[in-house]
Amino acid sequence: MNYTISQDLFETLAAEIEVLKKERKAVILAHYYQRPEVQDIADFVGDSLQLSQQAANTDAEIIVFCGVHFMAESAAILSPNKVVILPDQKAGCPMADMVDAEGLRAYKKRVPEVQVVCYVNSSAEVKAESDICCTSSNAVKVVQSLQGDNVLFIPDENLGRYAAKILGRSLQFWPGYCKTHDRLSKEDIQQAKNEHPSAKVIVHPECREDICEAADYVGSTAGLIKYAQNSENQEFIVGTESGILHRLHQVCPEKKFYLASERLVCPNMKLTSLEKVRDALKNLSPRVTVKEEIRVKAKAALERMLAL
Ligand code: 13P
Ligand code: SF4
Repeated sequence: MNYTISQDLFETLAAEIEVLKKERKAVILAHYYQRPEVQDIADFVGDSLQLSQQAANTDAEIIVFCGVHFMAESAAILSPNKVVILPDQKAGCPMADMVDAEGLRAYKKRVPEVQVVCYVNSSAEVKAESDICCTSSNAVKVVQSLQGDNVLFIPDENLGRYAAKILGRSLQFWPGYCKTHDRLSKEDIQQAKNEHPSAKVIVHPECREDICEAADYVGSTAGLIKYAQNSENQEFIVGTESGILHRLHQVCPEKKFYLASERLVCPNMKLTSLEKVRDALKNLSPRVTVKEEIRVKAKAALERMLAL
């Protein structure tokens, strides 16, 4: 196991969490970028789209979201009657912070009639100002669903450019990016290819355009896992956040995975620990809530996406 804590401590904390989870009637959702031990105590591990679908459909009264703030916020938007908890309230997403509602409103004033596609890595206020949300797994489909040329993609310019290229469309982009995926360079990929010439290169569309172009497959975290599972290839160079390696090793124990750069670590995703999950269940905090007027508008943008 590549846990960041000892096996003994894992077992102790996992047992405490299990008891509290039952008492609280809680469900624990975790993203693939979470620490391995956090993924292993979760009821469900998934990509952003799967997690928002789980959050919308769960019967649990309490959702403990092991991820970053915008993910917990999406759960609060979709499930207003549930208590949504983010074990570390400092777990934000720098990319989501690159666009705010005020800036977006100013853009919409400058470019009337613009249709806004909003990557889920964004605040509730920004979603509330947008026409439709998307995740990395459905960005192409969402953009395709919009007619005309007057479309703005926010905040991830790389994902927007990736979708535009596949569809042969010209979009407007917001200059946002993921600080973790941005650390991956073409030189890193070249070096990894030199070291592992038979490996397929699989990357996330938050990577820069030149990296996506050099890859054998580009997809969301769930897409990358599926590709590795279905591929006949035995070795893969992985261009996304390090946490995904845990699931890749679990589902393909006989295959080899090489992280394309040691710098592919999102510090925010790593803030969640088992101690924090246990304390969050004990104290039912920190909670994530969304003002009702914002929630209703943001929900419409998320539901338009989920309906596709
Ligand atoms: P996905 O899991 O949807 O691919 O999202 C990646 C990501 O960066 C989440 O912050
Ligand atoms: Fe945000 Fe990138 Fe971290 Fe995902 S990996 S939470 S997009 S900074």
